[in-house]
Amino acid sequence: MKKGQTTIRELKNFVGQPVTVHGWVYNKRSSGKVRFLILRDGTGYLQCVAFVKDVPPEVFDLMDRVTLESSVSVTGTVRADSRAPGGVELSLSDLRLHHLAEEYPIGKKEHGTAFLMENRHLWLRSSRQVAILRTRSEIVQAFRDYFYNRGFVLVDSPILTPAACEGTTTLFETDYFGEKAYLSQSGQLYLEPACMALGKVYCFGPTFRAEKSKTRRHLMEFWMLEPEVAFATLDDVMELAEDFLTEVTARVLDRCAEELKVLERDTSALERVQKPFPRISYKEAVDRLHALGSDIAFGDDFGGDDETILTKQFDRPVMVHRYPSAVKAFYMEPDPQDPSLALCVDVLAPEGYGEIIGGSERIHDHDLLLQRIQEHNLPVSAFQWYLDIRKYGTVRHGGFGIGLERTVAWLCGLQHVRETIPYPRMLYKLYP
Ligand code: 4AD
Ligand code: MG
Repeated sequence: MKKGQTTIRELKNFVGQPVTVHGWVYNKRSSGKVRFLILRDGTGYLQCVAFVKDVPPEVFDLMDRVTLESSVSVTGTVRADSRAPGGVELSLSDLRLHHLAEEYPIGKKEHGTAFLMENRHLWLRSSRQVAILRTRSEIVQAFRDYFYNRGFVLVDSPILTPAACEGTTTLFETDYFGEKAYLSQSGQLYLEPACMALGKVYCFGPTFRAEKSKTRRHLMEFWMLEPEVAFATLDDVMELAEDFLTEVTARVLDRCAEELKVLERDTSALERVQKPFPRISYKEAVDRLHALGSDIAFGDDFGGDDETILTKQFDRPVMVHRYPSAVKAFYMEPDPQDPSLALCVDVLAPEGYGEIIGGSERIHDHDLLLQRIQEHNLPVSAFQWYLDIRKYGTVRHGGFGIGLERTVAWLCGLQHVRETIPYPRMLYKLYP
């Protein structure tokens, strides 16, 4: 950057000094011999003030002509002002125009969701969307730092895969030189061998599910972080999930205070995210749901509504463990106490948000795993390599997957996952 050029977020360090800031016109107003221009640059908002007597006539004229979202550079002196957002404003001395924007389609009035989604590439500029994307970025960094700082090794899993991890009904199929390939639903199957090589590993990448349902929690393409740990039991997996969520939440509260304010997030709800999280079995959860008026049958998976009702009973995330194996994935270790149940856990976020984490202990016995693959009508040949792990020094192991977008929705307090990712992929929606 040139001398004196800075970003809005840094301006508090330049009080009394001349600076130049590049950005876009967010708003403007005028009153008599003074003109106000609100500049945004992605790091914040800056009120710039120009008096007719202090600036050349062509600059004053440009203040009148400049349209919303025009790209400009402002130069002036930074003044402390406790009422201004960020605590400073700019006494403007010069305004340079880069491009005069056409009439901007997104106004300050309310727009319908369909219109905003069509214009997602422009909607990203609004203050709410900027706050969400900044928080998402912080959450991603918190995810990575948590595992990096604890000695987990990042192991990237492939996107093009020959086998299904989470059931065959949500596969995106593609042609791989005459062979069928699928977009990855989860990196887990690839992490299990890797944890036998490295001990503690994780992957983090885009995953794909052809979900034929329109809900506020489902995307076709979402990002998932998955840790996998050799010698881990279900209790270890639950402890890891609880510690991880507590740390991520604390970091977001600490570093995204401004963003959460823009989003009008009730932060007291996030401050209650402290260990220990309540742990209840699937059976206890069903009993509680019945008491709350749900007609869920024992043995059914929870629907979104059941999760919403259940999580409203707790002030922090709740861990529901030991679901019936019949409603869960083929690879889950059965509970030795009751083999019809799986040693698995779903972490449900409070305030009605529902499942954000799914995890389990994995079957470590070769023959049992083979039997499950057959029972699920999966092609054994595509899983031969995965079965192999159970032949050479097999051990108990487990891990979980956390969906980034559902986590962003919860921490930011958003109604729908479509705002949590820059370019959401939803049912019949591939544009922009
Ligand atoms: O519960 P899921 O399907 O678990 C797995 O994929 C395991 N293989 C993970 C593992 O144990 N390594 O998905 C995990 C999480 C869910 O809890 C949810 O947060 C998110 O991924 N998720 C979705 N997020 C948005 N849209 C979808 N369609 C999602 N499907 C799952
Ligand atoms: Mg799940």
